[in-house]
Amino acid sequence: MAITSFRQQFQDQDPPPQPRKKKSGRRAGKQTKSKGEELLLATATAEETGNQEEGIRPQRLADYIGQKELKGVLEIAIAAARAREEALDHLLLYGPPGLGKTTMSLILATEMGVNCKITAAPALERPRDIVGLLVNLKPGDILFIDEIHRLSRMTEELLYPAMEDYRLDITIGKGQTAKTRSIPLPQFTLVGATTRVGSLTSPLRDRFGMIQRLRFYEVDELSLIVQRTAEVLKVQVTLDGADEIARRSRGTPRIANRLLRRVRDYAQVKELEPINQEVAALALEVFNVDPSGLDWTDRLVLSVMIEQFGGGPVGLEAVAAATGEDKQTIEEVYEPYLLQIGYLHRTPRGRMVTPAARKHLDFE
Ligand code: ADE
Repeated sequence: MAITSFRQQFQDQDPPPQPRKKKSGRRAGKQTKSKGEELLLATATAEETGNQEEGIRPQRLADYIGQKELKGVLEIAIAAARAREEALDHLLLYGPPGLGKTTMSLILATEMGVNCKITAAPALERPRDIVGLLVNLKPGDILFIDEIHRLSRMTEELLYPAMEDYRLDITIGKGQTAKTRSIPLPQFTLVGATTRVGSLTSPLRDRFGMIQRLRFYEVDELSLIVQRTAEVLKVQVTLDGADEIARRSRGTPRIANRLLRRVRDYAQVKELEPINQEVAALALEVFNVDPSGLDWTDRLVLSVMIEQFGGGPVGLEAVAAATGEDKQTIEEVYEPYLLQIGYLHRTPRGRMVTPAARKHLDFE
């Protein structure tokens, strides 16, 4: 690698955490929700995209709890890229929202001793948006693009040579006088994140050297995350209190941390610290989060399916129309967890509510 500063960064075996770059475009495409519903949605709130979330994100791979398989793959990729003094291979992370795709991208940057620029596909509508980002990258930098399945065609086509050959092909002028110019780019790593890996075009998907899925977290992993965040927030939580919050967090760290903040408010106002199981359960009842972690919308979706469609099979469109919910939100935010805990089944003829869900909702 010809660029000295890049080599020096990789020669340092244990790079110090890098100063974080300001995020851009994180909120693009965010859904607006009523207060009660917003509580459980795994889309990031302003509170979480701001300084508060920065403070509680783990910064090193060793501090990242869960996703063992993903961590194993990345540990090897980091060690190999560092030894070769190269940028990491491009990485596609997919899975439900809130499981730590952005966090993992920031950790990769820290581990590699490089910067991470964060953006989202809806903020890259015009080709010049992506050009501006790419030409300002330093060797080895990470470019994180959230919701990468939503890239415009022109932006996506600019990315192909950029990813493959670290080259930007841009057309200057129009018609007969138009000229194509190739601009060399530094070696960089594209980290793409998506909740819909099936919606990526195959030319884009094929240009990622690593394609990794993030899974829902186990309760014991979430409990550790709650305990870790409680320490950062300087709030006292007992082990059974952390377990109670973890059980109601839908397998999702972002939700666990969000619920912890709400329970902390409750405990503070009611003067009930430390947060034990009873306090956590009381607080979460107030915030309409039931013992399985279902919120008002989950219960609405399931009960509409039972009451209006005999428990299914029923199509997504019909459920969306009957509940007044957005189709995509049901599919990407609500359904994955209901499927995971066995409250919903997907069949070729539509979605079906399971006996476990009926029992949970007292419909037996
Ligand atoms: N905070 C959010 N996600 C986390 C994770 N996977 N490990 C540790 N802390 C976290």
